[in-house]
This record gives sequence, C-alpha cells and structure tokens, in this order.
Amino acid sequence: MAKPQKRYVCQACGGVATRWQGQCADCGEWNSLVEETANVTVFAAKHNLRSGGRAITLVGLDADIPLPKRWNTGIAEFDRALGGGLVPASATLIGGDPGIGKSTLLLQAAARMAMAGQSVAYISGEEAADQVRLRARRLGLGQAPVQLASATSVRDILTTLEKAPPALLVIDSIQTMHSDLIEGAPGTVSQVRASAQELIRFAKERGTALVLVGHVTKDGSIAGPRVLEHMVDTVLSFEGERSHQYRILRAVKNRFGGTEEIGVFAMAEAGLDEVANPSTLFLSARGEEMSGATVFPAIEGTRPVLVEIQALIVRLQSGATPRRAVVGWDSGRLAMILAVLEARCGLSFSTAEVYLNISGGYRVSDPAADVAVAAALVSALAERPVPTDCIAFGEVSLSGEIRPVAHGGLRLKEAAKLGFAKAWGPASKDGATPGMRHESFASLGALVDHILGRR
Ligand code: TYD
Ligand code: MG
Repeated sequence: MAKPQKRYVCQACGGVATRWQGQCADCGEWNSLVEETANVTVFAAKHNLRSGGRAITLVGLDADIPLPKRWNTGIAEFDRALGGGLVPASATLIGGDPGIGKSTLLLQAAARMAMAGQSVAYISGEEAADQVRLRARRLGLGQAPVQLASATSVRDILTTLEKAPPALLVIDSIQTMHSDLIEGAPGTVSQVRASAQELIRFAKERGTALVLVGHVTKDGSIAGPRVLEHMVDTVLSFEGERSHQYRILRAVKNRFGGTEEIGVFAMAEAGLDEVANPSTLFLSARGEEMSGATVFPAIEGTRPVLVEIQALIVRLQSGATPRRAVVGWDSGRLAMILAVLEARCGLSFSTAEVYLNISGGYRVSDPAADVAVAAALVSALAERPVPTDCIAFGEVSLSGEIRPVAHGGLRLKEAAKLGFAKAWGPASKDGATPGMRHESFASLGALVDHILGRR
C-alpha cells in the first residue's frame, strides 16, 4: 500500500533526507532542508520492473539524422554561446546573479526574434507588464510584436499558449512560477521542478524553444537552478562583475553543441551591446609601461581574448603572515607559480604580500596563463616593466619548465592584429607569425633571467 512519507529536500542541491538535519549531507549547505510531503511509494521487493512493459525499439548509431534546426536570436553573441542559435522544441536555462542582465538580454532577443517574424511570448513573474514595457521602450524595442504577460501560474500560462504555441517562450524567472499540482511556495525545489517539468513538456510537444531564467543565490532559501540543470538541454551562465561593464555568456551544458564558445556583451545605457572583438574591451585602459603588468592571449572556444594580468607585491616589515589575494584566477595556481619561482628561480616572496588581478573583472581558466602570471609577478618584484608591446603565454610545470600550449599560432596572430610585436612563450611548432617576434624560453628560470636583465 502506498504510504505518504515525510521527506526533507535540500533547497540548494535537491538532495533528499528522511530526517531534518541542520546541514545537507550532499552539498554541505546549512539550514537548507525543507519538509515536503510527496507521495513516496514504497514497493515491496517483489514488484520488479522486468516484465509487463511494452517493447521499445533499439536502433544502431549509424542511422542518418538531420542536424537540429536552429533559429537565430538576432544577437550573434547569444547565438554563438548557444552553439548556433536556439533549437526548436528545446529547453534552455540561463542562470546568473540578480541584476547581471538576464532579463535585459532575453527581452532584447525576444524583440529581435519577434521583429524577424517569429511568434514570441515573454512571461515575467517578477515584473509587472508595464515595467517590462517601459524597459523595452528604453531599449528602443517598444514596437516589437512580443506577446507580453505578467503571470506566475503555469496552468494559466500553458492554457493560454496551448491555442497558439509560440516559437520562443521566455519564462522570467522559473523561481516565481508555481504549479497547482504541487503544494508549496514558489521557489521551493519541488515547485521549481514541477513547473519546469510542465513547461519543458509543453516545449517538447509543441516545438517551442523554451528559455528559463534561473536565479543563483548564495542563500539556500531559493532553489538554485542546479536541480534544473539535469532537466534542460542547455545551461547558460551569464557572468560578470556588476561593477564592470562587460558580461560573458557561457554554455555550461549543451546537448546540441559544444560548450567552449562564449558570448561577450557590454552593459550600456541602451541595454546589452555585442562585443565582437573582446580584446579591445579588456585592453582598452592600457596606458604607459608599468611594472607588474603583462598581456595574456587567452583562448575562449575558438576565439582569442587578450587580457591584462596585474601583479602587486608589497614588502612586509613585520613578521605577519603575508596575504595572497587573487581576483579572476585560481588561487591554488598562484600558490604553485610562487612556489616554482621560489624553488626553481631563487626568488623570494615569503615576506611579501602578493595581489593578482585580471583586468576588467575577467576570469581566466586557461592554463596557458602561467607564464604571463609569472612574468607579472617577477616584473612587480623587481620593479622592471614588461615591454608594452609584449604578450606572454605558456604552461609552467612544477620543475620550472615552460610547456607548449594549444592554439599557439592563434594567440600570436590575434596579438599581432592588435599591435603587439613580441611574445614570450614556449618553443612553438607553428611557423612564424608576420609582425611578431617569438622569444621562446625552455624554463621559467630563463625567462626570469631575461626579465631581470641577467641574460
Ligand atoms: P536585469 O536585466 O534586470 O538583470 P537580471 O534580470 O539578471 O536580474 O538588468 C539589471 C541591471 O542592468 C540594472 O541594474 C540596470 C542595468 N541596465 C543598464 O545598465 N542598461 C539598460 O539598458 C538596462 C535595461 C539595464
Ligand atoms: Mg530579471
């Protein structure tokens, strides 16, 4: 006999516990467990699932399949992050901190698609229709034929759209939606999950491209989109520092394409502008020759992005433990580079505070940044500037070797295009790049000697 059971669901990760606990055993979040009554049916062991079902057809991998059709959103950087546009009958989740620009981006995409003749519905559960309309007017998109509504009931929304399913359906945000099939307040894991499930089913059956906005909060009281990530086809993350202008749209998961491309935007007076050449954005504030700054040609997907790496070294007088602070890079990796510089190159940072910053609030995850970081640190320590027309890249091993990295040629070409003339890096197999002098170093020690003028 089915027996309703109490269960406690973590509002941060969706983990289920049978008893209330202060801390979620799965993700370690505190005070995130909330009681939910669900019909958890306990079957006796004899009820196995190995008979009584319908036979399904099993096929080989080699059958012909058409590539999924794609709709352009009218925003090239958005399409790029999606892997070529929105796929009909798919679900996409866009996560990001409050205020980062999710609603703005989606309103702009919705308006462009509507103006291109697609049917588009934009449902806001957070803002009144007038607020959205005002924003659209401010963005110069007031005339776009977008079907707009402020609603939170999934039943009302789907009943309305059932008659004429739109090509694009934007739900802003999934945390405000509620399904009357389930008890509980909007924003709880079970509500978010149930609402998303219904919306996704509608999208798959009706051929609609569904885009869900999801909030990410540190506070566990709102269900993070993590439980949703498994349900949707594509997960995009909209990132950036709110104090900085630029925003990056990155695919975290994509069932229809790769996850290596990013879309770059700048938040301006009239909404989000596309940034087709991100290097100019991140290097725009570069001034005179200064010690502690290097330029690193990062690769994002297939596109190089030049960023400035800044290091500051402050000598301590007292015996206090020196600080190491990193913005935009991995602190573990900084500790490793400092250790290699100490152990292999004879430099000492032990009595100095070390600050490392990637300019523009950009986050570097490319391992090829090691050499540029090391060069910035050495330059700051010795107060010897790196030439302004010089870039640096390469991976550093624990033995102090400088290792080759992928896309060396692409990095050099992009830097040459932007007026850089010299590159410090590993020996390269690629041919010479016109206008670029490649100075290769086998070890970090050799590069340090070069910066310090010992060679
Ligand atoms: P919004 O899209 O509402 O963020 P989200 O939906 O992710 O919470 O954008 C919020 C911020 O963007 C807001 O603080 C103001 C800024 N903004 C601009 O700078 N220019 C604009 O044209 C718009 C519409 C917003
Ligand atoms: Mg919003």
